[in-house]
Amino acid sequence: MKTLLVTGGAGFIGSNYILHKRATSPDRIINLDKLTYAGNPENFTDIVNDPLYSFIHGDICDGELVANLLNEYKPDAIVHFAAESHVDRSIVNPGDFIRTNIVGTFTLLNEARKYLDGAQGSGSDFRFHHVSTDEVYGSLEPDDPPFSETTPYSPNSPYSASKASSDHLVRSYHETYHLPTVITNCSNNYGPYQFPEKLIPLMILNALAGKPLPIYGDGQNVRDWLYVIDHVEALETVLEKGQVGETYNIGGLCEKNNIDVVTSICKVLDSLFPDSPHAPHDSLITFVKDRPGHDRRYAIDPSKIKAELGWQPRVSFEDGIEKTIHWYTENSTWVSSVTSGAYREWITTNYNER
Ligand code: NAD
Ligand code: DAU
Repeated sequence: MKTLLVTGGAGFIGSNYILHKRATSPDRIINLDKLTYAGNPENFTDIVNDPLYSFIHGDICDGELVANLLNEYKPDAIVHFAAESHVDRSIVNPGDFIRTNIVGTFTLLNEARKYLDGAQGSGSDFRFHHVSTDEVYGSLEPDDPPFSETTPYSPNSPYSASKASSDHLVRSYHETYHLPTVITNCSNNYGPYQFPEKLIPLMILNALAGKPLPIYGDGQNVRDWLYVIDHVEALETVLEKGQVGETYNIGGLCEKNNIDVVTSICKVLDSLFPDSPHAPHDSLITFVKDRPGHDRRYAIDPSKIKAELGWQPRVSFEDGIEKTIHWYTENSTWVSSVTSGAYREWITTNYNER
């Protein structure tokens, strides 16, 4: 049994990670989350009385709080998800991304270093697991090989630049101070609990409501889609077996352009709701102004994690998208709770300006 200090655990991937961990392992979870618009403590209704789950409402930039948590709970690992994660928001308001993604990661690294220094040699099994993104590598041309762990960094948005910066800080803490780090860079996730500002949940909910499905630019941008539980299992594998100081790329081997993703969602909705007044749902597709600096293509080469640690994706896009659509149609209470005033304000600002 291990104790994990999870940051940003009330967000999309963190929630899936914690719920999966508590259902499948004896590990104790301390969830430190600021509860920004993207964090939802209601995701944990089923484990709120679980003695192996604790929620701490706080900011990763608060060094004193982080130090107190480390000294109180003595975790075996920090699994660091907390971030501002939406590219469009980083274009409108980059400051929050610099603060949380860069200063927040620095604060955690610094406190982890002090914590290990005080552990007098007993911290050799400790891990600082930094959860990062494929966006740090920039954008691929159609015929380029997928991103590998040695692809040079070339971030194009304030979001990806802030994540690239945090990756560099993590690397430097390993090289300079021997902090036992691992970094994972993952492709686009989808699945339950994803905030409906991101492509897949936004399109599902808009289509169900008969609202336009806004496709940026020509809809030919390519992403490499991974079902979130596959990502969670990859993270568990890396924490358990990954080599200190290494980076592992995680991807779905599933490149799709945006228009094909949205058309697939529409087809599933047509078959689930053939009598809907909005069917065929692809009639709702609307092309809108492109995202500034919009990366054309992402794709991950996951051969290192497969060869060295034995992980590979298990859920096909067809199965994953069906599970995801069912989850959003069956969890209307969750959807209502996250689509608050602040959410509506974002949708109005972002899409009315396009
Ligand atoms: P998310 O936006 O859904 O969740 C982020 C969480 O971090 C929220 O619960 C939020 O309240 C919390 N948070 C934000 N600022 C904080 C702060 N200062 N202190 C404490 N908590 C704070 O994000 P996500 O999609 O779950 O992504 C999680 C991580 O995975 C991020 O680091 C992201 O860069 C990375 N990632 C995401 C994807 C993806 O497709 N979503 C893919 C690869 C990597
Ligand atoms: O690649 C990993 C990254 O994937 C993560 O690091 C980010 O946190 C996560 O947000 C995601 O970034 P993207 O920018 O790729 O995801 P998003 O869902 O915002 O957009 C996916 C694609 O769909 C992208 O090409 C933009 C397009 N899009 C998005 C929205 C929200 C649209 O065409 N219309 C939309 O309304």
